[in-house]
Amino acid sequence: MDKRALQGKLGRRQFAGRAAATAGISLLATPGLAIGAGKGADSESVGPISLPEGAAFTPGVYVDQRARKPIYLPGANAGYAAHAVSEVLFWTDQLMEHGMFIALLMPGDRLRGPRSEARQFQMTFAGHFLSARDRGYRDDGLSSLLLSTRADVLQFIEYKRRMQRAQEAGTLKSLVWPLFFDHIAREAERFADRLALLAQGSAALQSDEVAAFWTTIMADHLEFVAHLLDPQERALVADAKARAEQLYQTHAHRVGSGQLATMADEVIDFKTAAEHGIEAGQIKSIIDPSLADHVLREAVRFSDEVRRAG
Ligand SMILES: [Fe+2]
Repeated sequence: MDKRALQGKLGRRQFAGRAAATAGISLLATPGLAIGAGKGADSESVGPISLPEGAAFTPGVYVDQRARKPIYLPGANAGYAAHAVSEVLFWTDQLMEHGMFIALLMPGDRLRGPRSEARQFQMTFAGHFLSARDRGYRDDGLSSLLLSTRADVLQFIEYKRRMQRAQEAGTLKSLVWPLFFDHIAREAERFADRLALLAQGSAALQSDEVAAFWTTIMADHLEFVAHLLDPQERALVADAKARAEQLYQTHAHRVGSGQLATMADEVIDFKTAAEHGIEAGQIKSIIDPSLADHVLREAVRFSDEVRRAG
């Protein structure tokens, strides 16, 4: 199904709105977050953390509004600090949600242990996100933010890879696919590498690395979409799989940055249309709206990085 046909099927977007996006567990403010983390670990509530509203203090951080949640990007004239802070904001938000998705996909008493670890990571990255957002950073004052975040990213990678191995071995029986653990581990590994580079003072992106990383990430997303659609959404399942295959091919053979930018825009359009269709009840699926929004934000970040890497 082409984009026009997809949008015809989907119709106009119906927003649940930001209030719905932020409703959930209330663990407000940084001191409360620590208290909330303790409480949260004992209670059974699983879902989004409702963070206090706020804008990034560091000048030069741009917020793209194409998704339900803000997408943090460096602005046109961003210096080193704004590049670093926007990248930390973007990925700590994503890693916080990885913790939530994993917890949501580990139901029941049997999975209480690994679920509680996932929720702890969700809260840890909420804390890093707030640290990055609610302070104005200068070029010479970033190392503790970058290094303390990186230390927890490494812990989360260890958890994701451990869970992946257990799920593959059949000793963990969660609803998380091994590919999903692998995917979110790769995202965290790339973030850890970027944090190390940023800590050395470099915010530069290498076009080959950007292409290699994001084409596989985008292809995986389309595979996830294909497998979370209702089996009878045959045309959409086939469309998502065909788009995934095209991105895997792009990963293997490489294309120019202009073509890559066009592909990024097509992925954004597809995901936006899919999110609208799910919200409006026009597409049958088990795709959580917050997962649809999560992958849309990554597509926007992909598009931004392709253009910046040149
Ligand atoms: Fe992803």
